[in-house]
This record gives sequence, C-alpha cells and structure tokens, in this order.
Amino acid sequence: MASKTYRICTLPGDGIGPEIMAQAVKALEAIGRAYDVDFQCEEHLIGGCAIDATAAAGRTPTALPDETLEAARACDAVLLAAVGGPKWDGAAPGQARPEQGLLAIRKQLGLYLNLRPVRVYPALIDASPLRPERLKGVDLVIVRELTGGLYFGAHERKTDVAGAGADGRPGTFCRDTMEYSEYEIERVVRWAFEAARRRPSKRVASVDKANVLETSRLWREVAHRVAAEYPDVEETDVLVDNCSMQLVNNPAQFSVLVTENTFGDILSDEASMLSGSLGMLASASLGDGTALYEPSHGSAPDIAGRGIANPIAQLLSVELMLRYSFKMDDAADALAGAIDDVLADGWRTGDIADASTPADHRLGTDAMGDKVVEAFEARAAR
Ligand code: IPM
Ligand code: MG
Repeated sequence: MASKTYRICTLPGDGIGPEIMAQAVKALEAIGRAYDVDFQCEEHLIGGCAIDATAAAGRTPTALPDETLEAARACDAVLLAAVGGPKWDGAAPGQARPEQGLLAIRKQLGLYLNLRPVRVYPALIDASPLRPERLKGVDLVIVRELTGGLYFGAHERKTDVAGAGADGRPGTFCRDTMEYSEYEIERVVRWAFEAARRRPSKRVASVDKANVLETSRLWREVAHRVAAEYPDVEETDVLVDNCSMQLVNNPAQFSVLVTENTFGDILSDEASMLSGSLGMLASASLGDGTALYEPSHGSAPDIAGRGIANPIAQLLSVELMLRYSFKMDDAADALAGAIDDVLADGWRTGDIADASTPADHRLGTDAMGDKVVEAFEARAAR
C-alpha cells in the first residue's frame, strides 16, 4: 500500500491528445513508484470525442458530459491533453463544438487563473526562431485571466440585418462582448503579485489596451491599487500591442506578465516560441475547484495518430500538477530535471529537432516518454 493516494481525472480528448496523455500516465506510474504515492487515473471524455459519444448514445451532443464534470469535481486534480479537430470545425451555429468542453470545464470548476511558465532550455536555444542573444536570461510566467472577457461575454449572431451585407444589402451581424468586473481582475492581479514576490526578479507587467478599451482602463486601475500593497514588487503597464513586440525584441525584461483572457491566449502562443516550440509550454488552471493541468498547445490534427507529437508540454503539465496540487516539489524538480537531462543528451522530437540532430536521436512520442521516465528514475535513485 502506498502511503498516499491521489485521484486524477485524465481527459485525453482529441487529435494527439491520447498519444501524449499515455506518456503522462506512464510518468505518473514511475513517479508513484519512486515517491510511494498511488496515482489513480480515471479517464473521461471531453471535446470532439465526447460530442461523438453522446450523439452515438442518442443523447444531446455535448463536449462536456455531466459524468466528466462530476468526475473532475470528485478528483484531486484534472489532467487534460487537447480538444478539437477538423471533423467538428464545420459545426453550424448552435451546434456543439469541442472547444466548448474546455471553456465549460474551466468555468464550471471556477478556474479563473491560468499559469503558463516560459522557460528557455539551453539545449534548445537553436530550436527557437529567435537569435540566441535575445533569449539570454529569459524566465517568465504568463498569468492569464481564464473565465472572463470576450470568451464569456454575451455572443450574438443575427442574419438578414438591414445594411450588414455588401452594398447596403441585408447580411449577417455578429457581436462578442468583452466584460470584466473588478473582482475578476483583482484576484488574478493579486495572484500575479504574490507570485512575483517569490521570484528572483520581483516584477509584474500588467498588460492591457487602456488607450482604447474601458475594460482595460478598469484593469489598469485595479492593477495600480493592488500594486500599492506590494511596494517590494515593481509594476509596469504595457499595452498589449507593444507587449507582443517586446516579447520578441527583449523578452528577458519580463518576469510575471498578467493579462486578460484573449490577450493571454495570444501572447502565450507567441511566448512559447522562446522555448523553441509550442510543444514545450505547459499550463496550470487554478481557482476555486479542482485544478486542471494541460499543455498550452492544441490537438494538432495534422500529425494525430502518427506517434510523432512532442509529449513534453504534457509532461511539464504533470510537473505543475505535482507542485500546485500535491505539494510534491521534490518529485516535480526530478521530473523537470529529467526533461532537462533528456534534452541535454540531444534527444529530440521532430518539432525541436534541427539539421544537426542525428537520425538516431530523433524520437517519436512514445520513445520520448520512455526517455523522460528513464531519466526520472535515474534521478530519483540518486
Ligand atoms: C488555449 C487554447 C484554448 C483557448 C482553445 C482551444 C479554446 O487556445 O488553451 O490557449 O483559447 O483558451
Ligand atoms: Mg491558445
């Protein structure tokens, strides 16, 4: 009997999801053995596969079945891979879409904050499209608001609206609304300041579009109010367009970036390229309910089923889960260290390989998972 038991709700989802989730489950088994913990993984449906399964069972098609949400609530953590794919892209307005499953689980679990740490791996400096000198000293974390803004404001679609078509003819009109309440801003901004306080570089960049948007002007007011409580942390306001330029021009200036939902979505994909690949960026969604961990990338339908996807962002999501949900910092350090070791030894999946990678060091998804587990076990045995 292991000394501790944790229940993990695993949601492989669509596309490359099941392939990379298999590596995470394998890693969890090894971590459990090394640290005397029984991780009980329970697999459930989310996204396109959930839409298909509910439809096949004669139920109303949904990307987040009730039983999945109930399991997520009952577990100690949720580990998700990815949702979506071309099969469901053509959904008509009002029909279920895979992404709704992800948005619904975030909302239903009250996960208002999404953390995306961006690290530069010395071994991968050449995999980044940026010049090595720009990457020196890069160590930042994006704190993205996750249950507000455009994603959750009122959406509307109207057809046959007078004048909405070309040449004054009737046409379609759509509206998405960016909405924020003070408390929604304050809780993520405060979290960012707390995190900055624990970092070597105590800086928070609050990202907004206050020169245009009212929600951003409120964001900035709240950021300043919270900043006044943290005199040891340096706060700067950065306009989002400027931020996206600074992220490639001088990314080392940032420590903690805090921003609203849509800006965070866009900036985090951009920032992932500092690590060399979107396949390296993990995330933790935290808030009121069971925390959820997932790679920041999508389901990569173009390479699904081929066994070539990079499982590292999924494994780094396990690392975040060990840290934030289970307070197993030693195990998290060993897993992160194992990934460093594997990369330093020159092992690469296709997305992070370059011309200098020998053919025998190019790995598929499963072999990369095995390498990380092997390196983890070597570290844990030390
Ligand atoms: C992400 C993804 C999701 C988002 C999509 C799949 C709905 O892009 O987690 O960044 O926009 O939040
Ligand atoms: Mg995204």
